[in-house]
Amino acid sequence: MTESSSTHKGLLALPNDDTRKIIFVATVLCLVCSILVSTSAILLRPLQENNAQNARQLEILKVVGLQFSGEEVDSYFSQHIQSKIVDLDSGEYREDIDEATFDERKAAREQSTSIELQTNQDIARIKRRANFVRVYLIADSQGEVEKIVLPIHGYGLWSTLYGFLALNTDDGTIAGLTFYEQAETAGLGAEVSNPKWLAQFIGKQALDIQGMPRISVNKGPVNPNDIEANYLVDGISGATLTSNGVTNLMHFWLGELGFGPYLVKLRENNN
Ligand SMILES: Cc1cc2nc3c(=O)[nH]c(=O)nc-3n(C[C@H](O)[C@H](O)[C@H](O)COP(=O)(O)O)c2cc1C
Repeated sequence: MTESSSTHKGLLALPNDDTRKIIFVATVLCLVCSILVSTSAILLRPLQENNAQNARQLEILKVVGLQFSGEEVDSYFSQHIQSKIVDLDSGEYREDIDEATFDERKAAREQSTSIELQTNQDIARIKRRANFVRVYLIADSQGEVEKIVLPIHGYGLWSTLYGFLALNTDDGTIAGLTFYEQAETAGLGAEVSNPKWLAQFIGKQALDIQGMPRISVNKGPVNPNDIEANYLVDGISGATLTSNGVTNLMHFWLGELGFGPYLVKLRENNN
């Protein structure tokens, strides 16, 4: 018998209230539990990533008004929606980047695949912006792109809000907006994810006729006779700061440093 196994047997033979036995049993228990937790975290990661991707796909389907309730979201998604990578600076598609493995959150973190935003540029308070971003295209029955879905994110009051903005390609009106990840206060800022509040954006103009971002969250209710009403939605009462965050992040992503160049190219192709 080795010296260490005889020591363990010796420890186990001690009375249960002996401090050395308590420490020994607690240490072994901690080790076993940590191995179990880390093994399951590693084994479950692909499943979690797949679930997160399916949840994003469901959000995109929802934002363009496609209702899906079956189990094979992946195949339904790829039948109805095409994803492409856009170079934000040029507004051109990048067919050479593997769309299936592209990770835009990673791209936005890494220096080689993103730019650092100056304070005056960073109205969405995101610090860095990825050079390439995945967009989603929805075609009509003739194969013409009728809607595009743009991923958007920016800071509210307490958290970064992640969402999707869908635009109709014919007239630039908003087809849908969703925020699928945020940690604002429930009942206040978190109302940005309330479908009733989000529904107000549908049909509003995102840009003015010069192509400048105009859609904004008003402070308080919008007066329907306001000449700007087409660019405004009601503010969330008690959550002006989160509401301002939504305006700022939409202006950033619709602007020159966001999808502005891409939207110009889309308009040119449509004319
Ligand atoms: C506990 C607590 C949580 C709050 N959470 C939010 C929030 O999530 N979003 C927000 O804009 N304001 C939040 N506020 C309110 C802001 O501090 C601020 O008063 C508010 O944005 C002003 O909006 P109002 O002009 O509509 O009242 C919170 C306040 C408190 C005390």
